[in-house]
Amino acid sequence: MNIIKVQDYKEMSQSAANIVIRKVKENSKIKLGLATGGTPKGTYDALIEDHMQNNTSYENVTSFNLDEYIGLDSNDPNSYHYYMDQSLFAHININKEQTYLPNGTADNLDKECTRFDKMIETLGGIDLQILGIGQNGHIGFNEPGTSFSSGTHVVALEESTRQANARYFDSIDEVPTHAITMGIATIMKSKEILLLISGEEKAETLKKLIHGEITEEFPASILKKHNNVTIIADQKALSGVL
Ligand code: F6R
Repeated sequence: MNIIKVQDYKEMSQSAANIVIRKVKENSKIKLGLATGGTPKGTYDALIEDHMQNNTSYENVTSFNLDEYIGLDSNDPNSYHYYMDQSLFAHININKEQTYLPNGTADNLDKECTRFDKMIETLGGIDLQILGIGQNGHIGFNEPGTSFSSGTHVVALEESTRQANARYFDSIDEVPTHAITMGIATIMKSKEILLLISGEEKAETLKKLIHGEITEEFPASILKKHNNVTIIADQKALSGVL
């Protein structure tokens, strides 16, 4: 894993955006894997700013998101569909029909998971996957204990994950208990992975990732077996490793 060390969240975001912009310019039909949450928000802001200033085009780009809550439809302000619209899609010239997120309100969730994996495969796989990481080492919503061979599947969210995400909801009771997530195997099939880590609350996590063993108890540890992973981490996140 290649590590790019940066000063702070702002620099992490700009540096991630620069990589995405370069890749989009190199391959206008790139398939991007996208994450939600606090970590990639600044990256999306930087992509929007660049789009406004330099007209970088996303017309032919396809995107797949890592996950979606079960039970929230795309108009729910807490759904990841909504987050992606507000944080990126509405502000760049991406074709909305080429943006794919798991449908958390599908009647048959297992079928939805299979459909999502097939869709990624049929469209040629993900070229560049952007990832954040949970304090417990989750990637996507693959919580500790998830099989490394998992495809897209339904997960019960850990209490700690629900609590971490409760900041976006009126109360913890409103945080969904389940989600659909790309599996670990799905993520590992991406040709290239960009993992963003910022803040002191992730310092232990990053330390474990770098120095710990590869184990299903710490899902992100599998990334050490991928041949093209770049971590962009800021000083605070790196404070445990330096
Ligand atoms: C989001 C996702 C999650 C987050 C992780 C970190 O799509 O898949 O794995 O990346 O929970 O969340 P933040 O960035 O809010 O700390």
